[in-house]
Amino acid sequence: MTGSQAKSRGRDVAAGPSDCDISWINARLATMAAGADQPYGAVEDGLIAARDGRILYAGPRCEAPALAARKTVDCAGRWITPGLIDCHTHLVYGGDRAHEFELRLQGASYEEIARAGGGILSTVKATRAASEDELFASADRRLSALIAEGVTTVEIKSGYGLEQEAELKQLRVARRLGHERPVTVRTSFLGAHAVPPEFKGRSGDYTNLVAGPMLDAVAADKLADAVDVFCEGIAFSPEETAQVFAAAKAKGLPVKIHAEQLSNLGGAKLAAEHGALSADHLEYLDESGVVAMAKAGTVAVILPGAFYFLRETQKPPVELLRKHGVPIALATDANPGSSPLTSPLLVLNMACTLFRLTPEEALAGLTRNAAQALGLQDQIGTLEAGKACDLAIWAIERPAELAYRIGFNPLHSRIWNGQ
Ligand code: NIG
Ligand code: FE
Repeated sequence: MTGSQAKSRGRDVAAGPSDCDISWINARLATMAAGADQPYGAVEDGLIAARDGRILYAGPRCEAPALAARKTVDCAGRWITPGLIDCHTHLVYGGDRAHEFELRLQGASYEEIARAGGGILSTVKATRAASEDELFASADRRLSALIAEGVTTVEIKSGYGLEQEAELKQLRVARRLGHERPVTVRTSFLGAHAVPPEFKGRSGDYTNLVAGPMLDAVAADKLADAVDVFCEGIAFSPEETAQVFAAAKAKGLPVKIHAEQLSNLGGAKLAAEHGALSADHLEYLDESGVVAMAKAGTVAVILPGAFYFLRETQKPPVELLRKHGVPIALATDANPGSSPLTSPLLVLNMACTLFRLTPEEALAGLTRNAAQALGLQDQIGTLEAGKACDLAIWAIERPAELAYRIGFNPLHSRIWNGQ
C-alpha cells in the first residue's frame, strides 16, 4: 500500500533501513482501537512491528510497510491483545483480613466492622508495623499473580499508612515494584482513605494534615501520579474531599475518587467537577452524576470483585453509563478487605456475569478505558502505532474466551515495552 493510504488509517510509519527490533506475524489482533469497524478492532492475519519499545505498526499483514525485523515471532494464529491494565489496586499492605471474612459470614457487615475499629484500620495497624522489605515481598507475590494473567500496567494506591511516614513507605514500595518488575506502575496517594484512630472524632484535623504536610511530602518526593479520596459515610465528606482535591490541583496532580460504593453522597459529580480522571465503585451513582462524568470525561471504574466479595445487591448503573457515553473501566481493586482478588481474568468474567457487560466492553475496561482512567490513553491501552509495545498473547480461538472461562489462564506470553 502507499504511504498516504497507511497514514489515512493512522498507521503510517517512517520505515528506515534498519526498521524494527521485532515483529509478530501470523497473529490475530484485538487492537481495541476506539471506533474500529470490527468488534474488538479485530484483525485476522495481523502483524505487529516494534522498535525501541514502541509499536511501529499494528494491523493487517497485507497492508504493512516492508520492515526488516531483527527478530520475527510466529504467533501460529494466537490472539494478541493490548497488555492488561489494572487501574485500581491497593496492592501494598501488611497482614490480611481473613478473620473479618469469618465475622462477616457470621452476620457482621463491612460497615459495622469498620466502625468497630476493624476494617481498613486493622490493615493500617499491620501496614505501619511492617518494614519496607516485608511490604515489598508480600506485594510482589500479588503483583506476580497479576503479571501471570497478562497485566503490563498497574495502579497502586497508598491509604493503609494514614500517617506521613507510613504513607510514604507504601508509595516507595509501589515505586520500587515498578523499578524491579517488568511492569509499569502508577501510584495514587490515598491519605484520605480512613480517619486514623489518633484522629477519631477530628476528621477535619486529619484532612488538614492530608491536604497540607502529607501531600507536600508526597509531592516533594514525586511519589504520586494522582491523588485519590474515599468519599463515604465511613470515610470523608464531600467538603473534605473537595479540600483534598483543591490541594492536589495546586500541586498539578490529577484526582480520582472512591465514590458511591455504599451510599450516594454525590462524590462522583464532585470529582467530575474537579476534572477527575476517574470515579470508582459507583454502585449508588445516579443519573446526574453520570451526566457530570460524561461532561468532564471522567472514566467510570467499576469493581465487580468488591461488589461480589461484600455481597452487594445494588449494581452500578451500567445502562446509564452507556446511554451517556461514559467510558467504563474495570479493575481488581486488589485489597485485603473488600476485594482480595488478583485475577484480572476473573474480573472480566464477573463484569459480564454480575454487571452484564459484553465481553468486548469488559476487555475495553481492562485495556483502552483503563488507560484513560490513568490519563495514559496516548501511551497504552490499544494496539496502535506510537503506543508502548505492551502485549498479551493468548492461546484462544476468540477474544470472548477471556471473559468466558473461570479459573483458567490461557496466557501464552506477555510483552512489556517490546520485551
Ligand atoms: O476500594 N472502598 C474503600 N477502600 C477499599 C477497601 C479497603 C479495605 O477494606 O481495606 C476499596 O474497596
Ligand atoms: Fe479501592
